Amino acid sequence: MRYIERSNKKSKPKTLRLIGEQTPFAIRESFNQLRTNLLYTTNDNDGCPIYAITSAEMSVGKSTISSNIAVSFTNLGKKVLLIDADMRRPAQHFTFGYDKKQPGLSDLLAGVKTNDEECMNSPMRGLTVITSGIIPPNPAELMHSKKFGEYLEKWKNEYDIIFIDCPPAGVVSDPIALASLINGYIIVAMANRSDSNRINATIKLLKMSKAKITGLVLNATSLRGEGSKYSKHYGYKHGYYKYNYYYGYKNGND
Ligand SMILES: Nc1ncnc2c1ncn2[C@@H]1O[C@H](COP(=O)(O)OP(=O)(O)O)[C@@H](O)[C@H]1O
Ligand SMILES: [Mg+2]
Repeated sequence: MRYIERSNKKSKPKTLRLIGEQTPFAIRESFNQLRTNLLYTTNDNDGCPIYAITSAEMSVGKSTISSNIAVSFTNLGKKVLLIDADMRRPAQHFTFGYDKKQPGLSDLLAGVKTNDEECMNSPMRGLTVITSGIIPPNPAELMHSKKFGEYLEKWKNEYDIIFIDCPPAGVVSDPIALASLINGYIIVAMANRSDSNRINATIKLLKMSKAKITGLVLNATSLRGEGSKYSKHYGYKHGYYKYNYYYGYKNGND
């Protein structure tokens, strides 16, 4: 996956999160490639495939990849459901411009909302987004709840493909809860930043739960090689170390 270019340094992240016609061809093409690879790994007879997007570390582009690959499938005329299951550091409400307090996944899983339609948003043709909902005190518990499996079974009959934007499996246990409910995990790593030992440890952890790994996406490879203007713009290396590693995931494997 290539760097997504900002039109200028001051443009808001909201506008760079989704690719559009302005996005360089190479970037749009890399999403098309990912889409093709996914199409090859799914069997039409299996019905609606469900993919969970996770990583070893935080802030490697999981949410960016999730939203863009979801949009890319709508361009094929597919009915796509995108679920923000990172109930610790949610992102999809922001990407699609919804209020972070609006009802979403946490409200459904906690039983605060019983009608899933109240939690569904349609930002564009073919795409339904369920935002994370109010940040709950017990995200891991909610992910493991029977209700999630029941809702996924229901949604499988209503959509062509489902993407679940997860927290990093290398940091918290939430995504492992989905192992038996989904077709596979897509692991995102950040070029020049993600640590291969941590990626391998995360893959091992997921495999121990009998999870299927559909593929690894290397995000933010530079368009023009090392030190290109794109990698300079984002300065991930610096940004990363400003984070407290467990920020937002401080409940650990609660
Ligand atoms: N390929 C990319 N090019 C440019 N910016 C990116 C790219 N991937 C991610 N980002 C930016 O990096 C930040 C973290 O990405 P995000 O998708 O929220 O990561 P995660 O979900 O893994 O925490 C966001 O501001 C996002 O816009
Ligand atoms: Mg995210």
